[in-house]
Amino acid sequence: MSLQQTNFAEAPKAPPNVMIIFGSTGDLTSRKLIPALFHLFRADLLPDTFAVVGIGRKPLNDQSFCKHLGKKIREYVGDSFDQSTWEKLSQRIHYLQGDIDQPSTYDDLNQLLDTIDQQRLTEKNYLFYLAVPPSLFGGITDRLSDAGLLQETADDWRRVIIEKPFGHDLESARKLNHRLHQHLSEHQIYRIDHYLGKETVQNIMVFRFANGFIEPLWNRQHIDHMQITVAESVGIGSRGPYYEEAGALRDMVPNHLLVLLGFLAMEPPNSFDAPAVRDEINKVLDAIQPLTPEQVLQHAIRGQYAEGLMPDGKSIEGYRQSPGVKSDSTTETYAALKLKMDNWRWAGVPFYLRTGKAMPEKYTEVAIQFKSAPRNMFKNTDTESMKADMLVLRIQPNEGIQISFGAKVPGPTMRVDTVKMDFSYVDYFGNKPATGYETLIYDCMKGDATLFKHADTVEKGWEIVQSVLDVWNALPPRDFPNYQAGTWGPQAAEELLNSDGRRWRRIRTNNH
Ligand SMILES: NC(=O)c1ccc[n+]([C@@H]2O[C@H](COP(=O)([O-])OP(=O)(O)OC[C@H]3O[C@@H](n4cnc5c(N)ncnc54)[C@H](OP(=O)(O)O)[C@@H]3O)[C@@H](O)[C@H]2O)c1
Repeated sequence: MSLQQTNFAEAPKAPPNVMIIFGSTGDLTSRKLIPALFHLFRADLLPDTFAVVGIGRKPLNDQSFCKHLGKKIREYVGDSFDQSTWEKLSQRIHYLQGDIDQPSTYDDLNQLLDTIDQQRLTEKNYLFYLAVPPSLFGGITDRLSDAGLLQETADDWRRVIIEKPFGHDLESARKLNHRLHQHLSEHQIYRIDHYLGKETVQNIMVFRFANGFIEPLWNRQHIDHMQITVAESVGIGSRGPYYEEAGALRDMVPNHLLVLLGFLAMEPPNSFDAPAVRDEINKVLDAIQPLTPEQVLQHAIRGQYAEGLMPDGKSIEGYRQSPGVKSDSTTETYAALKLKMDNWRWAGVPFYLRTGKAMPEKYTEVAIQFKSAPRNMFKNTDTESMKADMLVLRIQPNEGIQISFGAKVPGPTMRVDTVKMDFSYVDYFGNKPATGYETLIYDCMKGDATLFKHADTVEKGWEIVQSVLDVWNALPPRDFPNYQAGTWGPQAAEELLNSDGRRWRRIRTNNH
């Protein structure tokens, strides 16, 4: 059972364990992992028999490492910071200086873990968190295995959380899975996608399957199409060298967007257990029709932003002008796809996906457009031109659900307007400070892999994306840059929907 199924106060503590972080001096550790541990610790979900070991090349010790983290945590947890919780947590944080390529680092780690096990009674349960560049994932697991640190017994567990991106194409993802499986059983591997730690993503399952009214409508008879939008308002900033190798399609679609699609389109699983949920998500990915090269040309749109103005008046330099980016770069910063599924529930229903950088808003949502009702009885009134009903699942910011539908405008004539019913998590449940990593780390400690990705899921995601990558690699774009920073992407993306008689939902923060 996941943390989110229970109240924080009712959830049991995680079992004794040590969380060992590779990449402990990096951005992810200070911005997300330590704040998430702080929130779990403050919610009393970590046992006394818990410790953290940070591994890094920098010459730090326990005190200076905690001082470095302490400076950042105030910034990243904001108002939820309190000094006494941080002091108690920092007493459990250790630092091991070492090069992760050197076997001696793992001998040192073995010794340190023995000492911690004795002091803290952590029962030799180890969670290794690989918060390092993806090129290091394989080498670290090889060396952990050589040092005997991945071997489980009947009394203890060893688990490894692997950060994204998992591979940069289908072949590399397969190779990485193969390499990990040489040392680890699948049940020890936790491939993280932090989108799955978000309340609204998990709530898709609750909304669909725990409410009697929605599921009968959730099919091709009633739904016209779905739109998934993952928009980032920032440009590439200093991440040019990484992004040049990735691009929007690789960076966002095989992980975040396709997993969201899996939750939206899946059949009801038999239970909320990892294997049952994973099987249903895999069936969705299996049912997605791979795009032929001709379809890629029509149904996959790419874009790259030029200099432009954001809604707040700030200017963003063009992608090609960013540090570490080639002046004639063909890397896409925007991707949109139209996908269809070969199954009974969704035959004929298009799923439009889009993601991009330098968009006007940082915003993630799923918009579900219902089919119009027959309106013969309202002939000659303006109901005839009324918009069809729409359901919007807001994932960030301001997580919530909104339904738009027609209502009669009060007065003597039959006039109709579109009105909205809105549920916001914060209004209803209050503001629970969280990074999105709390649930995932806690679930991993408990051995619950429901919200993590299985090897098959990762490879199926890459299979879908690979058909697009192949065509895009063979035919470099000739019109880049083709959208301005501060706009919703290239004109071709508008045409993708317009040619089907549809349009992207206009997103404005003040309309939700
Ligand atoms: N930051 C995020 O919000 C975020 C979000 C999602 C996923 N991720 C993923 O999380 C991982 C880490 O990202 P990050 O943003 O934290 O990166 P980062 O700030 O560049 O940190 C990388 C960390 O890896 C260590 N490292 C790099 N090369 C090393 C080597 N050869 N030997 C030993 N240590 C090495 C660095 O240690 P030194 O200090 O010794 O150089 C540093 O602690 C990446 O896979 C990234 O894709 C990050």
